[in-house]
Amino acid sequence: MPGKDSVLGDYYYREAKRQGYRSRSALKLLEICQRFRIMKRGEAVLDLGAAPGGWLQVACRLVGEEGLVIGVDISEIEPLPFKNIVILRGDARSTELQESIARASGGMVDVITSDMAPKFTGIHDVDHGRQILLAGIALDLADKVLRPGGKMVIKVLMGSDFEAFRREVRSRFSDVRIFKPSASRDSSSEVYLVCRGFRGSLQ
Ligand SMILES: C[S@@+](CC[C@H](N)C(=O)[O-])C[C@H]1O[C@@H](n2cnc3c(N)ncnc32)[C@H](O)[C@@H]1O
Repeated sequence: MPGKDSVLGDYYYREAKRQGYRSRSALKLLEICQRFRIMKRGEAVLDLGAAPGGWLQVACRLVGEEGLVIGVDISEIEPLPFKNIVILRGDARSTELQESIARASGGMVDVITSDMAPKFTGIHDVDHGRQILLAGIALDLADKVLRPGGKMVIKVLMGSDFEAFRREVRSRFSDVRIFKPSASRDSSSEVYLVCRGFRGSLQ
C-alpha cells in the first residue's frame, strides 16, 4: 500500500495542476500567504529560486497588475502570461544579478521569498549545509533590497545549523515563525521561516 506521504504527494500534485500551477510547491506558498497575510495587492515581490514558476504565479495573482514580481533562477523560466513580472536568469550570489534586482525593483521590495534549493545529494548533512548557505544568501539580499517593515519567507532544512540561522534571522525581523505547509511531505525536513517586520539593513 502506498504510504501517507505518497498519497498526499499525489493529491497536492493533482490539486496544483487542477488550479493551473506549474509546481506543487505553489500550494505551499499559497497556504503561507493566506495564513500569515504575506502579500497584498500593489506590493513588489522578489522570488529567489523561482523556476519553474509556481511561486511566481501565486505572487502575480496576489499582488495584481498594480504590483511587481521579480523572479530569479539559475535555470530558465518559461514566460508567464502576466504583465507585472520581470524574470532574471542567474545565480543569486552574483553581484551583477544583485545589481539587476536593484534596478528592476527601483531600489526596494516589500516581500522576498526564497524557495532556493541545491541539487540534493541524499546525504542529509550535506544537503542541510548547502540549503542553509542559500538561505543565508537570501537573507543578505534582504539587507540590500527589502524595505524596513518588509516580510520574507525562506525555505530551510532542519539540521545542526538551523538554530544559529534562526537566531540570525530573528536579529533582523521582529516576528519569525517556523511553518511546515500541508503540501510539504512529512518525511522531508523542509520548513519555512515566515518573517515579518524587517528591522532594516544592518550594513
Ligand atoms: C524547489 S525549486 C523552486 C520551485 C519554485 N518555487 C516553484 O514553485 O516553481 C528550487 C530552485 O532554486 C534554484 N536555485 C538553486 N540555487 C540557486 C542560486 N544560487 N541562484 C538562483 N537560483 C537557485 C534552482 O535552480 C531551482 O529551480
